[in-house]
Amino acid sequence: MKLGRLNHVGVATPSLDKAIAFWRETMGAEVIREPFDLPAQGVRVCFVDTPNGQVELLEPLGEDSPIAGFLAKNPLGGQHHLCFEVPEIHAAKAWFEGQGCRVLGEPRIGAHGTPVFFVHPKDMGGVLTEIMETPKGAHRG
Ligand code: CO
Repeated sequence: MKLGRLNHVGVATPSLDKAIAFWRETMGAEVIREPFDLPAQGVRVCFVDTPNGQVELLEPLGEDSPIAGFLAKNPLGGQHHLCFEVPEIHAAKAWFEGQGCRVLGEPRIGAHGTPVFFVHPKDMGGVLTEIMETPKGAHRG
């Protein structure tokens, strides 16, 4: 497999409003995208642009949100996952499985509208890792 671009760092937060204010006022972020619900993944999402990537702010959506457990352990929120791009999602899934890494579920459409899957942190040096197919026609500066 060819490792692609680090697309974003996922950061869980109990309050998207407070996190957005923090990134704007304390971190100096100038481009903060419109938040949106991602019901398939049980999260409300807001992307903060940085010069070389994005921070993905994640707030729980619904009672059984997959980040509810993380926030129970980390009430202030915190770094949740890293997301790397790959050229072809199914080839990447087969690759990780071939390495003995536990892929969590089938690829599904992620926050950028392309298929993603997650790999279990216990097989990834403790880092929950999102693998994302590079958007077609993405411009990379
Ligand atoms: Co993500």
